[in-house]
Amino acid sequence: MSVTAIIGGSGLYALEGLEERNVIEVDTVWGAPSAPLVTGVLEGSRVIFLARHGNPHRIPPHRVNYRANLQALKDAGASRIIAINAVGGIHPQMGPEALVVADQIIDYSWGREHTFHADNLDEVVHVDFSYPYSEPLRQQLIAAASRCSLPLLDHGVYGCTQGPRLESAAEVNRLERDGVDIIGMTAMPEAGLARELELDYATLALVVNWAAGRTEELITMEEIHRVIDSGMSSVLAIVKQVLAATD
Ligand code: HPA
Repeated sequence: MSVTAIIGGSGLYALEGLEERNVIEVDTVWGAPSAPLVTGVLEGSRVIFLARHGNPHRIPPHRVNYRANLQALKDAGASRIIAINAVGGIHPQMGPEALVVADQIIDYSWGREHTFHADNLDEVVHVDFSYPYSEPLRQQLIAAASRCSLPLLDHGVYGCTQGPRLESAAEVNRLERDGVDIIGMTAMPEAGLARELELDYATLALVVNWAAGRTEELITMEEIHRVIDSGMSSVLAIVKQVLAATD
């Protein structure tokens, strides 16, 4: 039976309806993950849940120990990862409440521990990252949304900024010129580390605000939380639908 890890982002800190629930405190050679792993069975399928920012949410994007998170999931037997991300939207179709299964990444983050292959190497390792997301897992997410009759955009370029501050309007204009459709702060190094560990990885992003400078209003946390509260049930429905279709 394959084991699916779910990395919950802002607004998703637990999986409702988990059977055979177990909370395990783990440690890795890279340190402790953001939170204990929560294992169990959802829709008949084995899952491991990890709250990326801790539970309660206390770890900002640039301080997440991504190596520990990915290693802990691998050590616990995960074979694939569905990452949940709250993002800002640039593409005209990717406004608040839109769901996006991204197909590409541009990494603007810096200063994060972004590789398992840095020290004590027998040889230098360069993994292929032409297509950062697993196409089979992406297709499963897209099919699951369609079975739930939930509208979803099936491609988009995720630009990963450093945070924790949001972008300036001029930065968003530059990101748009680069081809970025949605902006978040956590896809990297997470996706790259998943690739290094040979874990299938895909993201289901919920757009929670228009990117900076795209509307007259400034971005407020109140508005972001409102969209997270209304949108996370759709995210969960899609994840459950993927699991229901998993052996
Ligand atoms: N920019 C970067 N990260 C984000 C945003 C944003 O506008 N919204 C949610 N996460």
